[in-house]
Amino acid sequence: MSKRIAFIPGDGIGIEVTAEAVKVLDVLIKGRNLPIEHVTFDWGAEKYLREDVTLPKDALEMFRRDYQAVFIGALGDPRVPSNQHAADILLGIRFGLDLYVNQRPVKLLDARLCPLKNRAELDVNFVIFRENTEGLYAGLGGNFKRGTPDEIAIQEDVNTRKGVERIIAHAFEFALRTHRKKVCMSDKANALPFGHGLWQRTFADVKSKYPEIEARHLYVDTLAMELVRDPSQFEVIVTCNMFGDILSDLGAQLQGGLGLAPSANLNPGNVSMFETVHGSAPPLAGRNLANPMAAILTLGLMLDYLGFPQEAEALEGVVTDALRQNMSTSDAGGNMGTREVGDWICSKLSV
Ligand code: IPM
Ligand code: MN
Repeated sequence: MSKRIAFIPGDGIGIEVTAEAVKVLDVLIKGRNLPIEHVTFDWGAEKYLREDVTLPKDALEMFRRDYQAVFIGALGDPRVPSNQHAADILLGIRFGLDLYVNQRPVKLLDARLCPLKNRAELDVNFVIFRENTEGLYAGLGGNFKRGTPDEIAIQEDVNTRKGVERIIAHAFEFALRTHRKKVCMSDKANALPFGHGLWQRTFADVKSKYPEIEARHLYVDTLAMELVRDPSQFEVIVTCNMFGDILSDLGAQLQGGLGLAPSANLNPGNVSMFETVHGSAPPLAGRNLANPMAAILTLGLMLDYLGFPQEAEALEGVVTDALRQNMSTSDAGGNMGTREVGDWICSKLSV
């Protein structure tokens, strides 16, 4: 049975970087006879402006029924100031498919790209697991007396035992499976005793089942500081939705910028979604300037998830070679265009 992938290029540079990811995938499918089929969907700002459709009504059902993976380039367009379509599509898929694991690897592939002084590749190599279905992103809240001087805005932070436990357990299982030895859980229980008190109690329960793994806790402000001071301390980080969002951008810079940061949104064993961490970057759009490497590394995460770990490894290897030989866009120190980087990577994969 073939694996089926749905590509949603989206908006802005999402369209250009997804084209490169598809090109690379086609080289792998052909060269290595991979049983993979893919289909592209034109969901994004254009369609929203034209047809008033964001995430089509039957989309989630279709994904559950017919697909093993969904790939999103990027969403966001200045012509849609609220970016309602982006929220509907991206968060709609995360929540609708219950993709509770947001896996964001932070790996320095070329030491020269690290903004910290005197860091080797091995000093920056950890994985952030961001809870992806609740927390401050649950969308519970409201405005009272909106637009008046007495306005009240409430944004609820939802933490469930089930939600917290499954992401923490996933982080430990990942550590075990990938021979990592350290898991750091981060919260802000000193200021948020109810919600994050639950994280502390759940962490204590889960970690007791993994005596072989060194379990550590840091408040998120301290973690932010430590990640800059000495990132080599960390192997696996697990945290809530909001903190994971912020820390993964910090992590992206440690590995050389958003142009290199991939991510996976998983419901293990079920259809899952893969996206670059970067946005649609309207000023770069349509100019052949965007770095396609985040999209190609994201393709690697997807192939790994679909059961093609050798191909995933090959992609990381080729992207690493490209960086070290300056076969890259300007954000990574080279002077090539989006398409030329994609072509170079394809040519290395075909030999
Ligand atoms: C991300 C993005 C999204 C998030 C935005 C676009 C809603 O920043 O994937 O990190 O906050 O999750
Ligand atoms: Mn983010």
